[in-house]
Amino acid sequence: MTRVPPLTPWPLRVLAGRCAREWARDRALLGLPSRSFFRADPALDLSCEIGGARAANPAGIAAGPHTQLAGNIVRGWLAGARSFELKTVQALDAIEIPRPCIEVDGLGYNVEWSQELSLDESLREYVTAAMLLEILGGWPELRAELGDPGPHVLELSVGYDLAGVASPRMRDFIATLCDAGAVLDGLRRELPPPLDVWREHPFRRRLVGGATLSTFHGCPPSEVASIVRHLMEVHDLDVTIKLNPTLLGERRVEAILRDLGYEDIALEPAAFAEDLALDAALDLIRGLDALARARGRRFGIKLTNTLVVRGGRGRLPGRRVYLSGPPLHALAVALLDELAGRLPGLLRLGPADEGTVPVAFSAGVGRGNFAVVAGIGLAPVTVCTDLLHPGGYGRLGGMLRSLQRQLRAAGLATLNEWVALRHAAARAAGHRDAAAAHAASLTSPAGAAPYRRENVQTGRRARDARLALWDCSACNLCESVCPNGAMLSLPSPAESAEGFAAKHQLVCLAELCNACGNCETFCPEEGAPFAVKPRLFLDRARFAADAGPAFHVGPSPGTTEPPFVVTAAAAVAGEAGRLAALLNGPQGLPLRAEDLT
Ligand SMILES: Cc1cc2nc3c(=O)[nH]c(=O)nc-3n(C[C@H](O)[C@H](O)[C@H](O)COP(=O)(O)O)c2cc1C
Repeated sequence: MTRVPPLTPWPLRVLAGRCAREWARDRALLGLPSRSFFRADPALDLSCEIGGARAANPAGIAAGPHTQLAGNIVRGWLAGARSFELKTVQALDAIEIPRPCIEVDGLGYNVEWSQELSLDESLREYVTAAMLLEILGGWPELRAELGDPGPHVLELSVGYDLAGVASPRMRDFIATLCDAGAVLDGLRRELPPPLDVWREHPFRRRLVGGATLSTFHGCPPSEVASIVRHLMEVHDLDVTIKLNPTLLGERRVEAILRDLGYEDIALEPAAFAEDLALDAALDLIRGLDALARARGRRFGIKLTNTLVVRGGRGRLPGRRVYLSGPPLHALAVALLDELAGRLPGLLRLGPADEGTVPVAFSAGVGRGNFAVVAGIGLAPVTVCTDLLHPGGYGRLGGMLRSLQRQLRAAGLATLNEWVALRHAAARAAGHRDAAAAHAASLTSPAGAAPYRRENVQTGRRARDARLALWDCSACNLCESVCPNGAMLSLPSPAESAEGFAAKHQLVCLAELCNACGNCETFCPEEGAPFAVKPRLFLDRARFAADAGPAFHVGPSPGTTEPPFVVTAAAAVAGEAGRLAALLNGPQGLPLRAEDLT
């Protein structure tokens, strides 16, 4: 049986055409309404250095579902992120991820351990994203709305062993992201009007500033060092290694989680045995920093990847699941404090610090702690789990606005001043630095409260109705929590003979959906929106292979109205007319028929 791909990314032509149509019609881009775009306060300078480049602010998106597809990266950028740890790629690029693969509810569990696109598809997505960010950043209509968006940084993420990273296909992949000229030239021809004026634009050819190495899955220290050396020597890249919370050791991790009330998290002892031990990690960091400096490159660390645990809540398949969100924050901060104490002067914390090893962060960051973490001087401060909650990408704006508010309240104009203030306040209170102060605060009842078990659960909503093809509570939660923007809410046509009851109908853009399960988690009704709601396909082969309520959407022949022709699968025979009325309505599918040919 041929494998049905979990994702079939939309081509640049369709994405760019959608941007043009949605902006003109709805003041939205790729499903994100303009009220969710981040507008920076021009009086404040939030910029920071990331791997030798400047980013307009420290907010970033951590490797995961939000950095796999081009459209996701664009949504993140519109919402304020200025750095992107691209979804980890590896030589094994046809793996099967079990479903569902994500379950968040305050904290997060996932089994999405690698990218699902082929290397060629990932490459196209990352180049497409880079082009769209450059286009949107210079698009006069958007600039009038957002002001100067400032610079952003894309960071490659690779795993998981030397043989894979050094394999010819991965070599080509990395080399192409370092000079994407040929791929860019192929794609620029796809740009449809009115964005075709960008076809001759001198797009940036070097797309990534550095690479982050995911040291997951028990990669031994000698191999980590070899991969870092390979990336520096063969590809001339700055390298960050993403460390795991297992570095704290099983007893310490257990104690922190129990103190915060997580009796339900079962640790996986084998994960601690397989993973890097703290002393080996300290030697590794010292050695790689020296190697990088000798080569005129930068070496950094990122805290942390997820924690391997047993079972989770029992909904995800498999014995090992990966924990993220608030409890991980407590672990990562304890690890940061430990490393800063054990590597005096080496880590770059604070604006005037002499340390040579920059520290990036990703662990349970949200609106409540973003400013504190940025105030330690960590950059970028990246987010994943928080964005899987209602509000989705729009939650980034809340984090950045809270940082802006705190700067203004303190009478400051720059992020550097904020970092200096936080370190000075920490030292005045008797702490080594702002990292130590934050670690100490997490052991106090007030500081620990937001991370305690009883406070992080959002609580399931009552499920008193069964989800059906048409109509539902139309709360649109499935739309906002989908990292891929695959669930789309369309207003029911007012004058339709089709008799829709709800004000909005939800449809699934099925090629962008990888059945992660997050929409089902938040749906107040019984059922999985991505599987029950109309599944729309632009691709005929995928439509034909789908067993669900599938519809093919194609352009009408010629230039006649209505724009879309809908064909229904056998499972939903008789429903094509209703869907066509919805998609062809004045507020219908935000695509242009001419881009679908
Ligand atoms: C669904 C999901 C997928 C992830 N995929 C990756 C990945 O491919 N590579 C990686 O290095 N980290 C991956 N991560 C880890 C995140 O990048 C991040 O380090 C971690 O989740 C902690 O941040 P958070 O608490 O904000 O989620 C993933 C996390 C989640 C929740």
